[in-house]
Amino acid sequence: MSTGRHTMIVLLWLMMLSSSSSAATLDVLTQGQVMNSSQTIVSNGGVFELGFFSFKLTNSTTDQKRFYLGVWYKQATYPSNHTIIWVGNRDQPIITNSSCFLTINNDGNIVIYERGVSIPITSIAAPTTNVTATLLDSGNFVLRQNKNDGTTSTASSMLWQSFDYPTHTSLPGVKIGYNTKTGKTWKLTSWKSPDDPSPGKYSLLIDPERTAQFLVLNGTQPLWTSGSWNGHYFKFIPEMAWSERIYTFTYISNGSEDYFDVKVLNSNSILTRYVMDISGKIQQFAWVESSQSWVKYWEQPKQQCDVYGYCGSNAICDKGHHPYCKCLEGFQPSNLRDWNGGNWSGGCSRRSALQCGDQDGFLPMKNMSLPLDPKVLQLQSVDDCESSCLGICACNAYAHSNNQCLVWYSSLYNVRQADYNGEDLFLKLPSTEIKIYEESNNKNSRSSNHSRNRALSLGLALPMLALVLILGTTVYCWRKRKSIQREKTNNADLDLMSFDFTTKTKPTTRESSDTTKIESGVIWDVELPFFSFSSICSATNNFCNANKIGQGGFGPVYKGTLQNGHEVAIKRLSARSCQGLEELKNETTLIAKLQHRNLVKLLGCCIEGEEKILIYEYMANKSLDLIIFDPRSQVKLLWERRVNVIEGVAQGLLYLHQYSRLRIIHRDLKASNILLDDQLNPKISDFGMARIFGDNRTQANTNRIVGTYGYMSPEYAMEGLFSIKSDVYSFGVLLLEIISGRKNSSTFPSIDSSSSNLIGHVWDFWQNERELELIDPILGNSSSFASSPTKYIQVALLCVQEKPSDRPTMSEVIAMLSSEFAMLPSPKQPAFSFGKGMDESSSSSGIPYSINDVTVSLTAR
Ligand SMILES: *[C@@H]1O[C@H](CO)[C@@H](O)[C@H](O)[C@H]1NC(C)=O
Ligand SMILES: *[C@@H]1O[C@H](CO)[C@@H](O)[C@H](O)[C@H]1NC(C)=O
Ligand SMILES: *[C@@H]1O[C@H](CO)[C@@H](O)[C@H](O)[C@H]1NC(C)=O
Ligand SMILES: *[C@@H]1O[C@H](CO)[C@@H](O)[C@H](O)[C@H]1NC(C)=O
Ligand SMILES: *[C@@H]1O[C@H](CO)[C@@H](O)[C@H](O)[C@H]1NC(C)=O
Ligand SMILES: *[C@@H]1O[C@H](CO)[C@@H](O)[C@H](O)[C@H]1NC(C)=O
Ligand SMILES: *[C@@H]1O[C@H](CO)[C@@H](O)[C@H](O)[C@H]1NC(C)=O
Ligand SMILES: *[C@@H]1O[C@H](CO)[C@@H](O)[C@H](O)[C@H]1NC(C)=O
Ligand SMILES: *[C@@H]1O[C@H](CO)[C@@H](O)[C@H](O)[C@H]1NC(C)=O
Repeated sequence: MSTGRHTMIVLLWLMMLSSSSSAATLDVLTQGQVMNSSQTIVSNGGVFELGFFSFKLTNSTTDQKRFYLGVWYKQATYPSNHTIIWVGNRDQPIITNSSCFLTINNDGNIVIYERGVSIPITSIAAPTTNVTATLLDSGNFVLRQNKNDGTTSTASSMLWQSFDYPTHTSLPGVKIGYNTKTGKTWKLTSWKSPDDPSPGKYSLLIDPERTAQFLVLNGTQPLWTSGSWNGHYFKFIPEMAWSERIYTFTYISNGSEDYFDVKVLNSNSILTRYVMDISGKIQQFAWVESSQSWVKYWEQPKQQCDVYGYCGSNAICDKGHHPYCKCLEGFQPSNLRDWNGGNWSGGCSRRSALQCGDQDGFLPMKNMSLPLDPKVLQLQSVDDCESSCLGICACNAYAHSNNQCLVWYSSLYNVRQADYNGEDLFLKLPSTEIKIYEESNNKNSRSSNHSRNRALSLGLALPMLALVLILGTTVYCWRKRKSIQREKTNNADLDLMSFDFTTKTKPTTRESSDTTKIESGVIWDVELPFFSFSSICSATNNFCNANKIGQGGFGPVYKGTLQNGHEVAIKRLSARSCQGLEELKNETTLIAKLQHRNLVKLLGCCIEGEEKILIYEYMANKSLDLIIFDPRSQVKLLWERRVNVIEGVAQGLLYLHQYSRLRIIHRDLKASNILLDDQLNPKISDFGMARIFGDNRTQANTNRIVGTYGYMSPEYAMEGLFSIKSDVYSFGVLLLEIISGRKNSSTFPSIDSSSSNLIGHVWDFWQNERELELIDPILGNSSSFASSPTKYIQVALLCVQEKPSDRPTMSEVIAMLSSEFAMLPSPKQPAFSFGKGMDESSSSSGIPYSINDVTVSLTAR
């Protein structure tokens, strides 16, 4: 042993002593040597540690415990809990109330034992002498035979290694795959529960039926597949392409073994692990030194549509709709009752059988993520591919992709609209179905009376179903109307002053389908109280100026104080809305159902004559602009808090765009519309205003532009085109303002001595790799921040790119912000030139800037 290594071990030993005085550390376990349960073996570099860990025996009255031999990270660990990466005896714990022991017995096998019980960890057949067990810095626990010459390091002397027996975790260097000759597989299997390491339901393995792809099983049922490997990434994990510079993945198939091999390019700096979690998700974690914690880098399946066969056969999964599953065109649920009850596993079958001849045709489905398990035919042309599918009765669909002809001879699974790299799928249908589809489609685009056509075409094939549907809808509408009427009589003109919001606005959960829990936000069925105008006048002291707390985009905001001392914010909308009264009430009630911790809560409203007033929760810290742009208040928001604000706004916006039923585009996101509660948590306000003002399409042209210059994306400001990507643009601007503490509208001298706005200024510095100089000086030295500001600046620049299609979606923004190592794309030149020389007053006053009569040629709605 070299002296260097010796010193290292002494050091580690001292560290161990200081952290846990009773434990003792071994270096190598030699044959006959015994390690007890308070001793451990630590790898040479101190990365990993091997020892016993234990869990209570759940229903035992004595203080007996279940002991397991395990390997965990020595330092990369939460303060008191081990992150266990390997278990030697996962389904055979040693149960004892005292200690248990590890040794290498006379045969050369590693065993653990306690009194009468002995459990072998290895099974080496021939008796072997002179063996030692060592824990390596890779996390591999290896058993080797010493050679006569004293060397231990040659591979041939290795008798056994724990990397060949992975449990629920894979580290770089662990194979996942199988041996075609011996049938041995290397797979990950989840734990049964957080305190039971025995093999659980979920496992990750290489799909033996298909080439080069991962499969996650739920018991014996496939739960998820990675899609095929193309040398850079798996079909369904395109984001892997981002991390190529950090990890290398290789598929090795050499006639006897098929496996994937992961390597970390700079292994000294990054600790990473893949875990088959008890939730059925395969997760990758990376250790973040600066925050001393494990960060989840990605996981799969991410969403229900990723789950293998989630919608059953011949159905399409759409993550944007509830319910997610819908039969393909020309198909119907195999079992209508199961299907409507949300059990989609039975899938869909053809409404009418194929003719199996020239009477069949193909329905093109654009931009799809192709179904699983195609057959590949060696046909070059699209026409050959089509006629081949037409000629074979069992063929259900074809696609021509990368010069390959793909056909499906059995049911189609996991069809969905692509998020990335979509392809066209051609679905085979009998000519009658194609006619029905074309007719309903033509009528849809020509006339507005589309529901009647639906009912008609359904009526042809499914008279009973149609009847049930129509009846059902009528009853539903009737009930709905009733309940609205009831609500009106109940709620009309309540007295705001004596209202108690703390007891009366608790969300009421009903078992009706109206109450839908959607991923990250909850939509509650709340009843929105309507108040009398006179009671609002008294709460705000007749809208006196002393009570005015702000001037939002759609009217002034006042503070109101109720009899019980409760404070509310009262927004008096300017009388511009073109909606009818009923419409406005319905709309407000809908908006009130959007509840998310990063949205300001709408508590009630008042609609009386010309007056349209909304009552919101009161935010103690007012709006973000009053803090970040004010030298006296800036210190309230130091780096961590600003990150918190950024993340909160991103979450709120994602909810509006993606998870809320209404799919709201904010259209006027800016610092003065971000309010802060007493804990300085951000909440977006004025969301849903565009809808309340009668414009509720999600992607459209508009001839009335609401928004604030400087925050408006170029396509919106100049052409009136808005989409979720225009909000992303505004988010990017806001991000830059939060980081720099400067208004976008301020002018900055730029490097080429012309002047520019904040975006141009940031872009200049970014290109010169001086972006860290942009950070608000009040925040101090950025090297002390827990997360690098560079990432935030880069994400902001991605959001303000000129072309909407280049900008990320909010879910991508959140993914980029939350993963420590994601390789972000390089931003293209932003659309800043537009903001040059802009009128300062339009932005800083916060009054919406309208361009009248921007002419657009748009077909009537
Ligand atoms: C384990 O062994 C160490 C060193 O021999 C000893 O100090 C310690 O008391 C033992 N612990 C138990 C639980 O037997
Ligand atoms: C402990 O629980 C197991 C199953 O959970 C049961 O079979 C066993 O009888 C229980 N033992 C006692 C002492 O309650
Ligand atoms: C350690 O793990 C236990 C059980 O998993 C958990 O209850 C506890 O909160 C964890 N402690 C820390 C500090 O993470
Ligand atoms: C451990 O359990 C045995 C019986 O299994 C008992 O005789 C012994 O007293 C217990 N020891 C302790 C320390 O509880
Ligand atoms: C065991 O290894 C030592 C060196 O570590 C060597 O001197 C000795 O000869 C070996 N014994 C046998 C039986 O191989
Ligand atoms: C295949 O690769 C494995 C591991 O790298 C190796 O042990 C085996 O000998 C190789 N087989 C062939 C036929 O090359
Ligand atoms: C695994 O299958 C069981 C039923 O066999 C089901 O209840 C469970 O939800 C499935 N797990 C996942 C993650 O889908
Ligand atoms: C779901 O439907 C399938 C077939 O349609 C049936 O076999 C299965 O038992 C159903 N599952 C549940 C939980 O009802
Ligand atoms: C396919 O769909 C994705 C996501 O919906 C979209 O980004 C992409 O532009 C579409 N591609 C085509 C060719 O329509």
